[in-house]
Amino acid sequence: MGHEWLRGRRIVVGVTGGIAAYKVCELVSTLTRLGATVRVVMTENARRFVGELTFATLSGTPVAHEMWAPRDEIVHTSLADFAEAVIVAPATANIIGKLAHGIADDLLSTTLLAFDCPIVMAPAMNTRMLCNAAVAANIETLRQRGVRILEPEEGRLACGDEGAGRLPATEAMLDALAEALGVADAPLAGMRVLVTAGPTREAIDPVRFISNPSSGRMGYELAGEAARRGASVTLVSGPVSLDPPAGVHVVNVESAGQMHQAVEAHRGELDVFIGAAAVADWRPAESHDQKIKKGDRDELELRLVRTPDIIASVAQWDPRPVLVGFAAETTDLLENAERKLREKGLDMIVANDVCRSDIGFGSDANEVTLIRASGNRTPLPRASKSEIARSILDEVQDLLGSRTD
Ligand code: PMT
Repeated sequence: MGHEWLRGRRIVVGVTGGIAAYKVCELVSTLTRLGATVRVVMTENARRFVGELTFATLSGTPVAHEMWAPRDEIVHTSLADFAEAVIVAPATANIIGKLAHGIADDLLSTTLLAFDCPIVMAPAMNTRMLCNAAVAANIETLRQRGVRILEPEEGRLACGDEGAGRLPATEAMLDALAEALGVADAPLAGMRVLVTAGPTREAIDPVRFISNPSSGRMGYELAGEAARRGASVTLVSGPVSLDPPAGVHVVNVESAGQMHQAVEAHRGELDVFIGAAAVADWRPAESHDQKIKKGDRDELELRLVRTPDIIASVAQWDPRPVLVGFAAETTDLLENAERKLREKGLDMIVANDVCRSDIGFGSDANEVTLIRASGNRTPLPRASKSEIARSILDEVQDLLGSRTD
């Protein structure tokens, strides 16, 4: 399976003192290349096999190995706060025994006790050690506590013996992380989704602009839910005051033109496009480099020109993604929404009445009707935007399914 789900994920890699430590360089390099943020924690014995600089270079982040190093953070708890998942590879008999018995006498063993995220361990050692009753019992103890234990591979070991004990391949470790994070069989795993959200700002002069009351919440909920379902998500966001959803790559823009450019950069790379942004339809024909002085005039006329219709341009892409738009209407909601669906060439449009204060712009809730290109209408009663987002993505999954059928 693809590993797009890794984009934006925060992974801790614990490295202990086994000869297979050198193979973990490929794991760290792959995780980083696929968009994860990686922090490596090494035991002192691990540093006998691979230098700290190697992992720092591959991950692009400082390697943690000293429990008592003078620094401005309490490392083991800050790493635990950072991590969405942790993998210990290779996992020696020593670290397995420490975790099984709650021993915390170095940074890695201490940090492992502070994690409340999924833990994956990849034991790698001499076959006879692996079969030792104490090691086997410790491994079983960890399994019982929910630690995912990766089966070592069979083959020729560094000591010359043949048998189980080799570190699994990088792909197997990535798949184990995907399962630990619950994205392995996620409905949108491997799908590339782009969501536009928030308002745009069309500058009149350096201190004035045309915009609208979109808070971005609807789009952010959609992006976060798509990421939770395993998709690789890009969120192109106008100016809002929301925290980026976990596992989502955010591109911040101001104007409709900038939003259009950010979307065009993904031409041909998307499986789903959801246009939740309240994109300005017009912008001032002239932009002034200096603030327009009031002087003694009582009126100021602005000539406005159309902005690029972003979602309509995406509809022209070949191949084109599944296209979902929103219709912000104040009258004749369903008729106007259905017309936009047809005019813009969408697969589905989400019709919402933006006159009401209890839904739509700026609200935590929305009440929408989903209209498919087939004409099928699904009214959704007023609910939280996170609930509405789940319903919309259920429909998106159905649209994707009908594409592959
Ligand atoms: O952000 P919130 O505060 O959570 O509010 C949510 C919302 C009300 C903004 C959202 O539910 C919504 O209705 N978004 C679409 C608003 C809008 O611009 O609707 P529209 O009918 O003007 O545009 C129709 C579709 O074309 C939309 O998908 C829009 O993103 C897209 N569009 C519009 C203009 C343009 N130049 N390019 C576009 O892509």
